[in-house]
Amino acid sequence: MFGTAAYDRAARELRRPVLEDTTSPLDRGELLRLATLAASSHNTQPWKFEHEPMAMRVQPDFTRRCPIVDPDDGHLWKSLGCAAENLVHAAAAQGHRARVSLDPRRGDVVVAFERSPGLHATELSRAIPHRQCTRQPYETGRLEADELRQLEQVGRGEGVRVALFTAARECEQVLEYLAAANQAQLSDRALRAELTAWIRFNPRAALATGDGLCGHTSGRPALPTALGRRLARFVLTPAAQTAIDASHVRASAGLAVFLAARDALPSWVEVGRAAERFALCATTLGIRTAFLNPVIEVRPLRAQLESWLGARGEHALLLMRFGYGRPAPFSLRRPLAAVVVRPDGGHPAT
Ligand SMILES: Cc1cc2nc3c(=O)[nH]c(=O)nc-3n(C[C@H](O)[C@H](O)[C@H](O)COP(=O)(O)O)c2cc1C
Repeated sequence: MFGTAAYDRAARELRRPVLEDTTSPLDRGELLRLATLAASSHNTQPWKFEHEPMAMRVQPDFTRRCPIVDPDDGHLWKSLGCAAENLVHAAAAQGHRARVSLDPRRGDVVVAFERSPGLHATELSRAIPHRQCTRQPYETGRLEADELRQLEQVGRGEGVRVALFTAARECEQVLEYLAAANQAQLSDRALRAELTAWIRFNPRAALATGDGLCGHTSGRPALPTALGRRLARFVLTPAAQTAIDASHVRASAGLAVFLAARDALPSWVEVGRAAERFALCATTLGIRTAFLNPVIEVRPLRAQLESWLGARGEHALLLMRFGYGRPAPFSLRRPLAAVVVRPDGGHPAT
Protein backbone atom coordinates (compact mmCIF):
# COMPACT_ATOMS: atom_id res chain seq x y z
CA MET A 1 0.00 0.00 0.00
CA PHE A 2 2.84 2.40 0.83
CA GLY A 3 5.20 1.28 -1.94
CA THR A 4 7.59 -0.57 0.38
CA ALA A 5 8.50 -3.28 -2.16
CA ALA A 6 9.23 -0.69 -4.87
CA TYR A 7 11.29 1.32 -2.35
CA ASP A 8 13.37 -1.71 -1.39
CA ARG A 9 13.95 -2.57 -5.09
CA ALA A 10 15.13 0.99 -5.81
CA ALA A 11 17.43 1.04 -2.76
CA ARG A 12 18.96 -2.33 -3.80
CA GLU A 13 19.48 -1.20 -7.38
CA LEU A 14 21.32 1.94 -6.16
CA ARG A 15 23.68 -0.18 -4.11
CA ARG A 16 25.10 -2.42 -6.81
CA PRO A 17 28.70 -3.53 -6.11
CA VAL A 18 31.45 -1.06 -7.03
CA LEU A 19 32.91 -1.30 -10.54
CA GLU A 20 36.49 -2.58 -10.31
CA ASP A 21 38.28 -1.92 -13.61
CA THR A 22 41.76 -0.45 -13.60
CA THR A 23 42.40 -0.54 -17.36
CA SER A 24 39.46 1.19 -19.07
CA PRO A 25 38.93 4.97 -19.12
CA LEU A 26 37.14 6.35 -16.06
CA ASP A 27 33.46 5.40 -15.96
CA ARG A 28 31.98 8.73 -14.90
CA GLY A 29 28.43 7.47 -14.42
CA GLU A 30 29.79 4.97 -11.90
CA LEU A 31 31.83 7.67 -10.12
CA LEU A 32 28.71 9.81 -9.91
CA ARG A 33 26.55 6.98 -8.56
CA LEU A 34 29.07 6.25 -5.81
CA ALA A 35 29.55 9.93 -4.94
CA THR A 36 25.81 10.35 -4.41
CA LEU A 37 25.68 7.38 -2.02
CA ALA A 38 27.51 9.57 0.53
CA ALA A 39 25.86 10.81 3.72
CA SER A 40 24.24 14.24 3.61
CA SER A 41 22.51 16.31 6.25
CA HIS A 42 18.75 15.37 6.30
CA ASN A 43 19.50 13.44 3.07
CA THR A 44 19.19 16.79 1.29
CA GLN A 45 21.90 15.77 -1.22
CA PRO A 46 22.94 19.43 -1.50
CA TRP A 47 25.29 18.81 -4.43
CA LYS A 48 25.71 19.15 -8.16
CA PHE A 49 28.46 17.51 -10.16
CA GLU A 50 30.25 18.89 -13.19
CA HIS A 51 32.51 16.66 -15.27
CA GLU A 52 35.87 17.94 -16.48
CA PRO A 53 38.25 15.89 -18.64
CA MET A 54 40.25 14.60 -15.62
CA ALA A 55 38.27 15.94 -12.69
CA MET A 56 34.84 16.19 -11.15
CA ARG A 57 33.59 19.37 -9.52
CA VAL A 58 31.33 18.92 -6.50
CA GLN A 59 29.30 22.11 -6.29
CA PRO A 60 27.05 23.29 -3.46
CA ASP A 61 23.35 23.35 -4.33
CA PHE A 62 22.14 26.17 -2.12
CA THR A 63 18.53 25.55 -3.16
CA ARG A 64 18.72 22.50 -0.84
CA ARG A 65 20.13 24.28 2.22
CA CYS A 66 18.52 24.11 5.66
CA PRO A 67 18.78 27.68 6.92
CA ILE A 68 17.33 27.04 10.38
CA VAL A 69 19.40 24.06 11.50
CA ASP A 70 22.44 24.95 9.40
CA PRO A 71 22.52 28.76 9.07
CA ASP A 72 26.21 28.97 8.08
CA ASP A 73 25.98 26.00 5.64
CA GLY A 74 28.61 24.09 7.62
CA HIS A 75 26.64 20.82 7.35
CA LEU A 76 26.07 21.46 3.65
CA TRP A 77 29.83 21.68 3.03
CA LYS A 78 30.49 18.65 5.25
CA SER A 79 28.04 16.74 3.03
CA LEU A 80 30.08 17.79 -0.02
CA GLY A 81 33.17 16.49 1.82
CA CYS A 82 31.41 13.12 2.27
CA ALA A 83 30.70 12.93 -1.49
CA ALA A 84 34.30 13.92 -2.34
CA GLU A 85 35.61 11.15 -0.06
CA ASN A 86 33.47 8.55 -1.84
CA LEU A 87 34.90 9.79 -5.15
CA VAL A 88 38.45 9.17 -3.87
CA HIS A 89 37.71 5.51 -3.12
CA ALA A 90 35.55 4.99 -6.21
CA ALA A 91 38.39 6.36 -8.39
CA ALA A 92 40.90 3.98 -6.75
CA ALA A 93 38.69 1.06 -7.84
CA GLN A 94 39.17 2.38 -11.39
CA GLY A 95 42.96 2.69 -11.02
CA HIS A 96 43.03 6.46 -10.45
CA ARG A 97 44.47 8.53 -7.64
CA ALA A 98 42.23 11.44 -6.64
CA ARG A 99 43.26 14.75 -5.08
CA VAL A 100 40.61 16.87 -3.35
CA SER A 101 40.91 20.64 -3.13
CA LEU A 102 38.73 23.67 -2.70
CA ASP A 103 38.47 26.14 -5.60
CA PRO A 104 37.87 29.48 -3.89
CA ARG A 105 37.34 31.20 -7.25
CA ARG A 106 34.45 28.95 -8.31
CA GLY A 107 33.36 28.15 -4.75
CA ASP A 108 33.32 24.39 -5.16
CA VAL A 109 35.25 21.23 -4.37
CA VAL A 110 37.47 19.82 -7.12
CA VAL A 111 38.36 16.14 -7.23
CA ALA A 112 41.20 15.72 -9.75
CA PHE A 113 41.97 12.24 -11.10
CA GLU A 114 45.26 10.81 -12.29
CA ARG A 115 45.85 7.27 -13.56
CA SER A 116 48.08 5.47 -11.11
CA PRO A 117 49.37 2.02 -12.06
CA GLY A 118 48.99 -0.45 -9.21
CA LEU A 119 46.10 1.40 -7.58
CA HIS A 120 42.98 -0.74 -7.20
CA ALA A 121 39.81 -1.18 -5.16
CA THR A 122 40.27 -1.31 -1.40
CA GLU A 123 37.95 -2.46 1.34
CA LEU A 124 36.89 1.19 1.70
CA SER A 125 35.95 1.35 -2.01
CA ARG A 126 33.89 -1.82 -1.69
CA ALA A 127 32.16 -0.50 1.44
CA ILE A 128 30.62 2.52 -0.36
CA PRO A 129 27.31 0.81 -1.32
CA HIS A 130 27.01 -0.80 2.13
CA ARG A 131 27.59 2.30 4.30
CA GLN A 132 24.53 3.75 5.92
CA CYS A 133 23.57 5.79 8.97
CA THR A 134 21.96 3.03 10.99
CA ARG A 135 19.40 4.76 13.19
CA GLN A 136 18.17 1.64 14.93
CA PRO A 137 19.45 0.32 18.29
CA TYR A 138 22.81 -1.48 18.23
CA GLU A 139 23.75 -4.63 20.11
CA THR A 140 25.52 -3.84 23.35
CA GLY A 141 29.16 -4.85 23.12
CA ARG A 142 32.58 -3.26 23.24
CA LEU A 143 34.89 -2.84 20.28
CA GLU A 144 38.34 -4.44 20.19
CA ALA A 145 41.23 -2.07 20.97
CA ASP A 146 42.55 -2.69 17.47
CA GLU A 147 39.23 -1.65 15.90
CA LEU A 148 39.18 1.56 17.95
CA ARG A 149 42.74 2.30 16.82
CA GLN A 150 41.82 1.77 13.16
CA LEU A 151 38.81 4.07 13.46
CA GLU A 152 40.88 6.73 15.18
CA GLN A 153 43.44 6.55 12.42
CA VAL A 154 41.03 6.83 9.48
CA GLY A 155 39.16 9.64 11.25
CA ARG A 156 42.25 11.83 10.94
CA GLY A 157 42.49 14.41 8.17
CA GLU A 158 44.20 17.69 7.44
CA GLY A 159 43.62 19.68 10.64
CA VAL A 160 40.97 17.13 11.70
CA ARG A 161 40.93 14.37 14.31
CA VAL A 162 38.35 12.16 15.92
CA ALA A 163 38.06 11.64 19.68
CA LEU A 164 36.43 8.36 20.75
CA PHE A 165 34.56 7.89 24.03
CA THR A 166 33.61 4.44 25.25
CA ALA A 167 33.17 4.83 29.03
CA ALA A 168 29.55 4.86 30.25
CA ARG A 169 30.04 8.01 32.35
CA GLU A 170 31.44 9.89 29.32
CA CYS A 171 28.50 8.84 27.16
CA GLU A 172 26.08 9.89 29.95
CA GLN A 173 27.69 13.34 30.03
CA VAL A 174 27.24 13.76 26.26
CA LEU A 175 23.65 12.53 26.64
CA GLU A 176 23.01 15.40 29.04
CA TYR A 177 24.15 17.87 26.39
CA LEU A 178 22.04 16.04 23.81
CA ALA A 179 18.92 16.25 25.99
CA ALA A 180 19.41 20.01 26.34
CA ALA A 181 20.01 20.36 22.58
CA ASN A 182 16.83 18.38 21.80
CA GLN A 183 14.92 20.64 24.16
CA ALA A 184 16.23 23.75 22.39
CA GLN A 185 15.66 22.42 18.86
CA LEU A 186 12.34 20.63 19.17
CA SER A 187 10.65 23.46 21.00
CA ASP A 188 11.55 25.77 18.10
CA ARG A 189 8.62 25.89 15.65
CA ALA A 190 10.72 27.00 12.69
CA LEU A 191 13.21 24.20 13.19
CA ARG A 192 10.45 21.61 13.55
CA ALA A 193 8.82 22.87 10.36
CA GLU A 194 12.13 22.64 8.45
CA LEU A 195 12.79 19.14 9.77
CA THR A 196 9.24 17.95 9.04
CA ALA A 197 9.57 19.21 5.45
CA TRP A 198 12.43 16.72 4.94
CA ILE A 199 10.62 13.75 6.53
CA ARG A 200 9.10 11.27 4.10
CA PHE A 201 6.34 9.56 6.05
CA ASN A 202 6.08 6.53 3.79
CA PRO A 203 8.24 4.76 1.19
CA ARG A 204 6.11 6.03 -1.71
CA ALA A 205 6.70 9.65 -0.67
CA ALA A 206 10.45 8.95 -0.47
CA LEU A 207 10.40 7.33 -3.92
CA ALA A 208 8.66 10.39 -5.37
CA THR A 209 11.47 12.75 -4.31
CA GLY A 210 14.46 10.39 -3.94
CA ASP A 211 15.62 12.39 -0.92
CA GLY A 212 14.74 13.17 2.70
CA LEU A 213 14.46 11.15 5.87
CA CYS A 214 12.21 8.13 5.43
CA GLY A 215 10.74 6.48 8.54
CA HIS A 216 11.26 3.12 6.81
CA THR A 217 15.04 3.40 7.44
CA SER A 218 14.55 3.80 11.19
CA GLY A 219 11.82 1.17 11.56
CA ARG A 220 8.94 3.62 11.98
CA PRO A 221 5.52 2.60 10.60
CA ALA A 222 4.48 4.14 7.28
CA LEU A 223 1.74 6.76 7.43
CA PRO A 224 -0.15 8.80 4.84
CA THR A 225 1.79 12.09 4.52
CA ALA A 226 -1.01 14.33 5.82
CA LEU A 227 -1.52 12.15 8.91
CA GLY A 228 2.24 11.90 9.50
CA ARG A 229 2.55 15.69 9.45
CA ARG A 230 -0.29 16.05 11.96
CA LEU A 231 1.12 13.36 14.28
CA ALA A 232 4.67 14.76 14.07
CA ARG A 233 3.52 17.58 16.31
CA PHE A 234 2.90 15.07 19.10
CA VAL A 235 5.63 12.53 18.36
CA LEU A 236 8.55 14.83 17.61
CA THR A 237 8.95 16.18 21.14
CA PRO A 238 12.12 16.86 23.14
CA ALA A 239 11.22 14.20 25.74
CA ALA A 240 10.43 11.50 23.14
CA GLN A 241 13.59 12.23 21.11
CA THR A 242 15.78 12.23 24.21
CA ALA A 243 14.34 8.89 25.35
CA ILE A 244 15.19 7.39 21.94
CA ASP A 245 18.68 8.95 21.92
CA ALA A 246 19.37 7.72 25.47
CA SER A 247 18.45 4.13 24.65
CA HIS A 248 20.49 4.30 21.41
CA VAL A 249 23.58 5.77 23.07
CA ARG A 250 23.44 3.33 25.99
CA ALA A 251 23.33 0.40 23.55
CA SER A 252 26.26 1.77 21.53
CA ALA A 253 29.91 0.87 21.95
CA GLY A 254 30.87 4.54 22.05
CA LEU A 255 30.70 8.06 20.68
CA ALA A 256 32.96 9.81 18.19
CA VAL A 257 33.48 13.57 18.13
CA PHE A 258 35.13 15.02 15.02
CA LEU A 259 37.27 18.04 15.85
CA ALA A 260 38.78 20.53 13.42
CA ALA A 261 41.15 23.46 13.60
CA ARG A 262 38.55 25.83 12.20
CA ASP A 263 34.77 26.11 12.05
CA ALA A 264 34.87 27.28 8.43
CA LEU A 265 35.96 26.18 4.97
CA PRO A 266 38.08 24.19 4.17
CA SER A 267 37.74 22.41 7.56
CA TRP A 268 34.07 21.65 6.86
CA VAL A 269 35.03 19.68 3.74
CA GLU A 270 37.90 17.93 5.56
CA VAL A 271 35.70 16.93 8.49
CA GLY A 272 33.04 15.58 6.11
CA ARG A 273 35.73 13.53 4.38
CA ALA A 274 37.00 12.19 7.71
CA ALA A 275 33.50 11.24 8.90
CA GLU A 276 32.71 9.43 5.65
CA ARG A 277 36.05 7.59 5.75
CA PHE A 278 35.36 6.65 9.39
CA ALA A 279 31.92 5.29 8.42
CA LEU A 280 33.36 3.35 5.45
CA CYS A 281 36.04 1.82 7.66
CA ALA A 282 33.43 0.97 10.32
CA THR A 283 31.33 -0.69 7.60
CA THR A 284 34.25 -2.96 6.65
CA LEU A 285 34.46 -4.03 10.33
CA GLY A 286 30.71 -4.73 10.66
CA ILE A 287 30.39 -1.66 12.90
CA ARG A 288 27.36 0.63 12.46
CA THR A 289 27.40 4.41 12.79
CA ALA A 290 24.79 7.19 13.09
CA PHE A 291 25.09 10.93 13.63
CA LEU A 292 23.68 12.74 16.69
CA ASN A 293 24.38 16.34 15.75
CA PRO A 294 21.92 18.47 17.75
CA VAL A 295 24.73 19.07 20.29
CA ILE A 296 26.87 20.46 17.47
CA GLU A 297 24.03 22.54 16.00
CA VAL A 298 22.96 24.32 19.21
CA ARG A 299 25.91 26.66 19.78
CA PRO A 300 25.83 27.00 23.58
CA LEU A 301 25.75 23.21 23.92
CA ARG A 302 28.54 22.78 21.43
CA ALA A 303 30.58 25.20 23.57
CA GLN A 304 29.84 23.09 26.66
CA LEU A 305 30.86 19.92 24.81
CA GLU A 306 34.11 21.56 23.67
CA SER A 307 34.94 22.77 27.13
CA TRP A 308 34.20 19.31 28.60
CA LEU A 309 36.49 17.82 25.92
CA GLY A 310 39.21 20.31 26.82
CA ALA A 311 39.35 21.16 23.12
CA ARG A 312 41.86 23.99 23.09
CA GLY A 313 41.33 25.98 19.92
CA GLU A 314 39.61 23.00 18.24
CA HIS A 315 35.97 22.95 17.14
CA ALA A 316 33.61 19.99 17.57
CA LEU A 317 31.96 19.69 14.14
CA LEU A 318 30.25 16.28 14.12
CA LEU A 319 29.06 13.71 16.65
CA MET A 320 28.41 10.01 15.93
CA ARG A 321 27.53 6.88 17.84
CA PHE A 322 28.96 3.53 16.80
CA GLY A 323 28.57 -0.13 17.69
CA TYR A 324 27.85 -3.58 16.33
CA GLY A 325 24.44 -4.04 14.83
CA ARG A 326 22.39 -5.23 11.91
CA PRO A 327 21.86 -3.15 8.78
CA ALA A 328 18.56 -1.28 8.38
CA PRO A 329 16.72 -0.44 5.13
CA PHE A 330 18.83 1.93 3.00
CA SER A 331 17.95 5.51 2.12
CA LEU A 332 17.22 6.62 -1.45
CA ARG A 333 18.91 9.09 -3.80
CA ARG A 334 17.70 11.36 -6.60
CA PRO A 335 18.31 10.25 -10.21
CA LEU A 336 21.82 11.05 -11.44
CA ALA A 337 20.39 13.26 -14.20
CA ALA A 338 19.11 15.60 -11.49
CA VAL A 339 22.58 16.24 -10.08
CA VAL A 340 24.79 16.60 -13.17
CA VAL A 341 25.31 20.07 -14.56
CA ARG A 342 26.98 21.36 -17.68
CA PRO A 343 29.68 24.03 -17.36
CA ASP A 344 27.00 26.65 -18.18
CA GLY A 345 24.97 25.46 -15.17
CA GLY A 346 22.26 23.64 -17.20
CA HIS A 347 21.33 19.98 -16.89
CA PRO A 348 22.46 17.78 -19.79
CA ALA A 349 19.61 16.19 -21.74
CA THR A 350 19.48 12.51 -20.82
C1 LIG B 1 26.78 16.88 7.97
C2 LIG B 1 25.78 15.81 8.32
C3 LIG B 1 24.99 15.92 9.45
C4 LIG B 1 24.09 14.91 9.79
N1 LIG B 1 23.39 14.99 10.97
C5 LIG B 1 22.57 13.97 11.34
C6 LIG B 1 21.93 13.95 12.63
O1 LIG B 1 22.11 14.86 13.44
N2 LIG B 1 21.12 12.91 12.93
C7 LIG B 1 20.92 11.87 12.06
O2 LIG B 1 20.16 10.95 12.39
N3 LIG B 1 21.53 11.84 10.85
C8 LIG B 1 22.36 12.86 10.48
N4 LIG B 1 23.02 12.80 9.28
C9 LIG B 1 22.85 11.62 8.44
C10 LIG B 1 21.91 11.84 7.27
O3 LIG B 1 20.59 12.02 7.69
C11 LIG B 1 22.05 10.65 6.30
O4 LIG B 1 23.34 10.66 5.77
C12 LIG B 1 21.04 10.68 5.17
O5 LIG B 1 19.75 10.52 5.68
C13 LIG B 1 21.29 9.61 4.13
O6 LIG B 1 21.26 8.34 4.73
P1 LIG B 1 22.50 7.35 4.65
O7 LIG B 1 23.70 8.06 5.23
O8 LIG B 1 22.08 6.17 5.48
O9 LIG B 1 22.72 7.00 3.22
C14 LIG B 1 23.94 13.79 8.93
C15 LIG B 1 24.72 13.69 7.78
C16 LIG B 1 25.66 14.67 7.49
C17 LIG B 1 26.53 14.53 6.27
